Amino acid sequence: MKCATDFGVEVSYAAKAFATVEFLRYLARYPIGVDVCSLGELVTAQRAGFKSERITLHGAGKSDEELLSACTGRIGCVAVDGIAELQRLADISRNGYTASVMLRLNVGVDASTHAFVRTGGKDSKFGIHQRDERAAASLLSANPQLHFAGVHAHIGSQIYDESAYLENASALVAAAQRFASFGLRSERIVIGGGFGVPSDPGGDHQRLDVAATVAAAADYVRNAALRCGLVPVLVGIEPGRAIVADAGTTLYRVLAVKRQSHRTFVVVDGGIAENPRPALYGARYSVTAVTPRHEEDEEITLCGRSCENDELGTMRLPRDVAPGDLLAMRSTGAYTYSMAGNYNRFPKPAVVGIADGTHRLLARRETIDDILRNDAV
Ligand code: LLP
Repeated sequence: MKCATDFGVEVSYAAKAFATVEFLRYLARYPIGVDVCSLGELVTAQRAGFKSERITLHGAGKSDEELLSACTGRIGCVAVDGIAELQRLADISRNGYTASVMLRLNVGVDASTHAFVRTGGKDSKFGIHQRDERAAASLLSANPQLHFAGVHAHIGSQIYDESAYLENASALVAAAQRFASFGLRSERIVIGGGFGVPSDPGGDHQRLDVAATVAAAADYVRNAALRCGLVPVLVGIEPGRAIVADAGTTLYRVLAVKRQSHRTFVVVDGGIAENPRPALYGARYSVTAVTPRHEEDEEITLCGRSCENDELGTMRLPRDVAPGDLLAMRSTGAYTYSMAGNYNRFPKPAVVGIADGTHRLLARRETIDDILRNDAV
């Protein structure tokens, strides 16, 4: 399979999709970088062996400590998400530091996806608005300790439309031209992540050909940059979901099968705490019975065990599914464990990595002591 690094695109894994030290250690063997958006993700990447030059710091609101990490060599590049943040970075770095800065722009691309995961366009808090670009350029020029690395725009997540990436690429080249006219050369143009991965086999989405989309967008950027005299320019992407979603399978144990007035509920030993995506985004997944069962399938509603109507989806499962059975939910690698909480004080499950015929623990199962750890007594 073709990989983005094969056609000269810089790949940076978005750690928010799933990160543990052991998993990032696995990824660190590949010629890719990692995007972090908190000190927690940064320390995870460092412990996994990512050298600072391979780490980019993101975040819609960065603390002083996070901005300082960009000035003290802990990360390679910081994606600045606003004028006020750029000013704070300039102030912090004035004490003899330097930092490499990419500007995260809002180039106005309104991608078609769930409103909760759309990060471009006029209703989005993310990125620097075009009206503030000149001010950003002036701040950078006045602060030579800040090195301008280039422009960036991430337009959202779960995007299936190749044309949205081309629109973003075109808007970014135009932005790079504007910055060039302010005297700032973009070494890099980063078109973000967001490549859609369908998890529901019955859903409406065709799988996006990520390699073809990235190749087309990268070609567009290189050719357009050449035409505008902006070369040489590196093209970057920062996928999270496209790297881990399909790698994950959640195993649930059935706790109860309840035939209510007109629906059958299968209650499992998990739910909204370790996978909030069905409740938040209406995400749907494919589920199969692992324990062999022989009766005809019937329509059931899968739900978690929390004190909520935490439905995980309506699906067909064998009629004789029973308490104690194992069910497998597919394509849960992205934004499940990383978004998990401890609602109802349920401990988080373990995560086990399986590759090349071996397995290894990526995160141990939480205990009740873990749940109590921060309680003042
Ligand atoms: N780059 C930036 C700046 C981002 O904010 C994100 C995701 C990515 C890259 C990676 O996007 P991906 O390739 O994984 O779609 N919790 C939501 C997804 C939120 C994504 C936030 N930003 C979900 O469960 O669908």
